[in-house]
Amino acid sequence: MPAEGEGYDVVVVANRLAVDRDGTDKDGHPRWKRSPGGLVTALEPVMQSQEGAWVGWPGSPGDAEDAVSEPFDWGGMHLVPVSLSAEEVQGFYEGFSNGTLWPLYHDVIVAPEYHRQWWEDYVAVNERFAAAAAEVAAEGAVVWVQDYQLQLVPAMLRAARPDLSIGFFNHIPFPPYEIFAQLPWRRQVLEGLLGADLLGFQRPGDAQNFLRACRRSLQLVPRQQAVEVPAADGGRRRVTARAFPISIDAAAMDELARSPEVRERARQIRADLGDPDTVVLGVDRLDYTKGIGHRIKAFAELLDDGLLRADETILVQVATPSRERVEQYRLLREDIELQVGRVNGAHGTLGHQVVQYLHHSYGREEMAALFQVADVMLVTSLRDGMNLVAKEYVAARHDERGALVLSEFTGAADELGQALHVNPHDIDGLKSAVVQAVVMGPREQRRRMRSLRRRVFEHDVQRWARDFLAALRPDVGADVGAEAVEGGASGSGEHGSRS
Ligand code: ADP
Ligand code: G6P
Repeated sequence: MPAEGEGYDVVVVANRLAVDRDGTDKDGHPRWKRSPGGLVTALEPVMQSQEGAWVGWPGSPGDAEDAVSEPFDWGGMHLVPVSLSAEEVQGFYEGFSNGTLWPLYHDVIVAPEYHRQWWEDYVAVNERFAAAAAEVAAEGAVVWVQDYQLQLVPAMLRAARPDLSIGFFNHIPFPPYEIFAQLPWRRQVLEGLLGADLLGFQRPGDAQNFLRACRRSLQLVPRQQAVEVPAADGGRRRVTARAFPISIDAAAMDELARSPEVRERARQIRADLGDPDTVVLGVDRLDYTKGIGHRIKAFAELLDDGLLRADETILVQVATPSRERVEQYRLLREDIELQVGRVNGAHGTLGHQVVQYLHHSYGREEMAALFQVADVMLVTSLRDGMNLVAKEYVAARHDERGALVLSEFTGAADELGQALHVNPHDIDGLKSAVVQAVVMGPREQRRRMRSLRRRVFEHDVQRWARDFLAALRPDVGADVGAEAVEGGASGSGEHGSRS
């Protein structure tokens, strides 16, 4: 525990810091880029409006030459790095987190691998994160642990610091027991999570799956979305598991999309694409859960069938590089690039590629411009905790135009009822939805987009954080609410202040 009067009142612990190490500049200072993925997109505005610390891994091995180990401030946030060795990156991050848990929790779209050494690395790294959080949290602080990489942290932290209020949020689905039961360490994972006071999930079904796993594996009987577990003082402690659907900073995306620079950039992109009648867009991390292959297949068949014309339509697929050292991700990249090559070979002409495939990550301005260019946005995940891209598209469409095709297997589908819902495994159904989106008139686009925007703006990420923290600790939740009401989470201000 820090010395009396020291430490942070709110601590977020996530595998990723908001930024990822990107080499060193010519003066020898670390260079940073924003970390990929929805967790960082959601937490960044929340932490920019909070005085708190963010504990996480800076994205390169700690024994690398350019390792960063001292806390630093970035983008109005106080960041506390946790080092991983090259072996731990392999065993904990690429192995247990992304070779075991990620596929297991996403309905075994690819086969999870179970290796005892990976599990040992997972335990060791979770211990390090718990110790780092215990060191920076003030007496009686709120510690909010994030995501599947850190499921053991809540119990480890409670053992070290019983004074803390501990929350956990799972950004990805929690699988049905029949799938979860495969995990050789299922009891340890559940016991790790049960160290928290409050467990948040994306959908009510995820919370139910968790409670059911507690009943089946630990013989705990859930009552009113909670189970009781033994407490350190010999009494009982209540652990609640509920849905808190995550969201985006909708006002910030709206403001960005309205800026003259972004509008101009959107016009330029459309012109560079050859001013096609219809631009269809996909934006994802290059991940097998996203159904990118299904979407390209449907698009290609529509061209083959003559229902879309190659000279009038373009599919822009932006695929952020992700987890490139994990075998399944390498194979996926090869598959997708082969598929794109085939469609362009069959339907492209000199100077016109019908599928524009971009294996890069872009800045927020460019993303906002791309969303404005997209007449049709395709989100075809086979399983996705939430999918923030769908919400970003909606928030960027202040012109109330465009159509969103959305997989029913995303958390976002629960909220975005006016999107065109699809089962991405049903290629014919997906093709019909794409055609419906392409021919949709402006009146219908407006009607649907208004309702979608209402939902995304009313349930933004500030509200998500406020709801969660208020359920965990009403005094802290009220603070987040006050700041959101006063004008959003975009201010940076002085951060890193201590209690
Ligand atoms: P996941 O968390 O699984 O990656 P989400 O859709 O919830 O999926 O979040 C993805 C986040 O990453 C969004 O904020 C999206 O804008 C961002 N993103 C995805 N692809 C890119 C890209 N090529 N360049 C920049 N940002 C991207
Ligand atoms: C998803 C996960 C996050 C993760 C992100 C990017 O959003 O829920 O925990 O950070 O993907 O993946 P990466 O492996 O690059 O951190």
